[in-house]
Amino acid sequence: MTTTTSRIPVTKAVVPAAGLGTRFLPATKATPKEMLPVVDKPAIQYVVEEASAAGLSDILMVTGRNKRALEDHFDRAYELEELLVRKGDEDRLRRVRESVELANMHYVRQGDPKGLGHAVSVAEQHVAGQPFAVLLGDDLIDPRDPLLARMIEVQQELGGSVVALMEVDPSQIHLYGCAAVKANGFGEDVFQVTDLVEKPEPGEAPSNYAVIGRYVLDPLVFDVLRETPPGRGGEIQLTDALRELTTRDAEAGGQVHGVLFKGRRYDTGDRADYLRAIVRLAAEREDLGPEFRSWLREFVGSELQD
Ligand code: UTP
Repeated sequence: MTTTTSRIPVTKAVVPAAGLGTRFLPATKATPKEMLPVVDKPAIQYVVEEASAAGLSDILMVTGRNKRALEDHFDRAYELEELLVRKGDEDRLRRVRESVELANMHYVRQGDPKGLGHAVSVAEQHVAGQPFAVLLGDDLIDPRDPLLARMIEVQQELGGSVVALMEVDPSQIHLYGCAAVKANGFGEDVFQVTDLVEKPEPGEAPSNYAVIGRYVLDPLVFDVLRETPPGRGGEIQLTDALRELTTRDAEAGGQVHGVLFKGRRYDTGDRADYLRAIVRLAAEREDLGPEFRSWLREFVGSELQD
């Protein structure tokens, strides 16, 4: 089952961040939604930190309109740094510099945001024929529940492409890409993906396994994306390309595997999940946590009594 490309190590990550973020308007009118703060860091920094922690030091961010804030965040801020140096504020200086030192950042523009599949396709030249990771810029995986390293391991062992799956309540599956799976004998958390459906209608979902925003893809996906017509919502869907990959020959880089994730994950593009992420991460922080937790206890005890 192992393919030639699977032996090439995964060193590059693609982070699509060119969507319009309409669920967050008007906040996203002039600011990318990936820049919205989760406590005191923009969501996108958590994503880049995750890629870096998994050993991916080359990151291509797919941006669109309003790209400046994203690029500036991962660049030096000389005036600010100088000011903090003059003040002797070592702690803030370290935090300002952190984002610059995470990885080698590269940027490409998507032009029209024609869908996630299209965003991935613009990375083809940069990826240059290697298997690569994709991390959605608004999807946070808690750093205490590592997922990407396991996905890379599965890709290196089995070849083909790998998606991250999460079991969701049946009433929620229509919000996700949904995977039909079968056991493949590679561990309890790994499946062969036999089919994929983007946002299935109620009653048409083949399982409760939702595809979440982490992928390790064989470069064959670029050939498939070139031939993928617009799907649901008129967008070029990555799910449609992955579905096609499930039918392709393993020797040619086809086949898709799923890694089941049971950890904490937040979709910061969704307002309710964004709020949950902030409350949980703030409550768990050493610096802010004690005071915030005691306020939260009081708030829940008094204000939220029905
Ligand atoms: P979403 O569908 O959540 O993003 O895409 P969106 O379209 O910005 O959100 P809403 O529904 O209008 O609020 C998931 C990820 O894929 C990126 C987004 O930036 C997000 O990180 N994306 C999506 C692109 O880069 N390009 C696209 O054409 C679409």
